Amino acid sequence: MKRTLLMIKPDAVSKGVIGRILFMLEENGFKIVAIRSKRFSRNEAERFYEVHRERPFFEDLVNFITEGTVVGVMVEHEDAVRRLRDLVGATDPKEARPGTIRAIFGESIERNAVHASDSPESARRELNFFFHEDSSD
Ligand code: CMP
Repeated sequence: MKRTLLMIKPDAVSKGVIGRILFMLEENGFKIVAIRSKRFSRNEAERFYEVHRERPFFEDLVNFITEGTVVGVMVEHEDAVRRLRDLVGATDPKEARPGTIRAIFGESIERNAVHASDSPESARRELNFFFHEDSSD
């Protein structure tokens, strides 16, 4: 799996740090293949995060992700899913390794700046969601 999705969330977009996050991707050897900004409808947000539907934070997550623009970034790298998750850091910015995207830009477990696909299967599904094509190989 060479390609995966990074989604820059509304907190990071409204803070004006899209460019700094893209810079970190390139500095760490990721090739940016495609970029698309969009505003999720509730229905799209619920589908994007459907694996979390039964979790207690699901409603808050959908409210947050629909509050503003998000930016989907298709990136390419050897072992892309694992390498991107390393660069992104732990879900909770307080627990994220210093220097990771969430440690630098995240505010809380919910407003944690970015999402990265957690497996090759999720990457395939989530890239398709943003870019309407199967970009795995
Ligand atoms: P993300 O990688 O986008 O995947 C699901 C998101 O749910 C996660 O990042 C968090 O931002 C959000 N979330 C909110 N509350 C929690 C929680 N208690 N545990 C895990 N994820 C949470």
